[in-house]
Amino acid sequence: MLYTILILLFLLFALYAAYILGNTVYHCLYLNYDRTKPVPESVTIDNHVRDHLMAFTHEIQWYDSLSWWQRDGIMGGLHAMNDARVGFFAKYLSITKEERQHEGRELTFHDIGCGGGICTEELAKRGFNMIGVDMSKESIRQATTHAREQGIQNVNYVIGNAYDLSFIPPASSDGVVMSDVLEHFHDLPTVVHQVSRMLRPGSFLVFDTMKRNWLTFIINEVVQNSPLAILPQHTHHWSLMINVEELKTLLDREGMELKIVKGLGIDVFSITFWKAFLLRKREQFPFSITDDVMWNYIGYAKHPTSASHVPRAAVTYGYLDSGVGSTFLST
Ligand SMILES: C[S@@+](CC[C@H](N)C(=O)[O-])C[C@H]1O[C@@H](n2cnc3c(N)ncnc32)[C@H](O)[C@@H]1O
Repeated sequence: MLYTILILLFLLFALYAAYILGNTVYHCLYLNYDRTKPVPESVTIDNHVRDHLMAFTHEIQWYDSLSWWQRDGIMGGLHAMNDARVGFFAKYLSITKEERQHEGRELTFHDIGCGGGICTEELAKRGFNMIGVDMSKESIRQATTHAREQGIQNVNYVIGNAYDLSFIPPASSDGVVMSDVLEHFHDLPTVVHQVSRMLRPGSFLVFDTMKRNWLTFIINEVVQNSPLAILPQHTHHWSLMINVEELKTLLDREGMELKIVKGLGIDVFSITFWKAFLLRKREQFPFSITDDVMWNYIGYAKHPTSASHVPRAAVTYGYLDSGVGSTFLST
């Protein structure tokens, strides 16, 4: 009896190991995309790519059903990293504020892919006039409702798709925030171009995102596919993650300079982390800004100040929400 159980356990383990190995080889061979190019949405003969992108599309629907402001809910990780990331963003956006003080006008900052406004609202509280943009109507509804309940006046939310931000006038934004969203786009070159187009010369793009490396592979494809999974399936896709060099190439193309990149990490040697991990309390993960970039990274890039910068031709994207460019309140 004992032998039978042991053999069964061994077989189960062998099956699991074979799955992990197969999945690793498959990802390295077929899903390790060059993120300086769009991930080929139109490659219909490659069913794996299509399935992969279908999962990504479903993800947007999935977000629609979530509550952004429940700290101990599915969005707990974003709440956990909010202090660290907002502190970093505010530091650099403040430089623009100071530099433009003499212009005597109200500055406007945009948070693209703002979701329910966890980061946007905190920046508004710190005195930045924010416009949050997201393609998910439900997220914009939750963000608007929450800001209203909190009595925050200097934040507005708009439904919009990052692939076509033409409803925002060119060179009109004093700064763009893209937090935990770059790794959600299959056509990253278009998004970076759209952001560059809307920035006033000399303004900053502040962001955080995830590296595509062995560590994020283990987190996303091994831990996430095991009973230790900490996030729902399809929260992230390893092949949509972005290496620093890839992001730098895309920014270079737009004449933007990647200035600073830091880690946005968790101290995995701390008791706080293990306590939070074992109790499944994402909202208690101890995030902080670090010097080494292991997986999550945070940084900022500067838009060129010179007029010699000629951005590439605008790309219009095919699929837009019906409510694009409208606020939740007016739809
Ligand atoms: C992980 S959430 C990040 C939300 C928010 N930035 C934060 O960190 O609290 C990613 C968000 O990106 C949005 N998103 C994904 N693709 C988008 C697109 N093409 N245009 C606009 N928003 C998009 C999703 O709807 C979702 O709200």
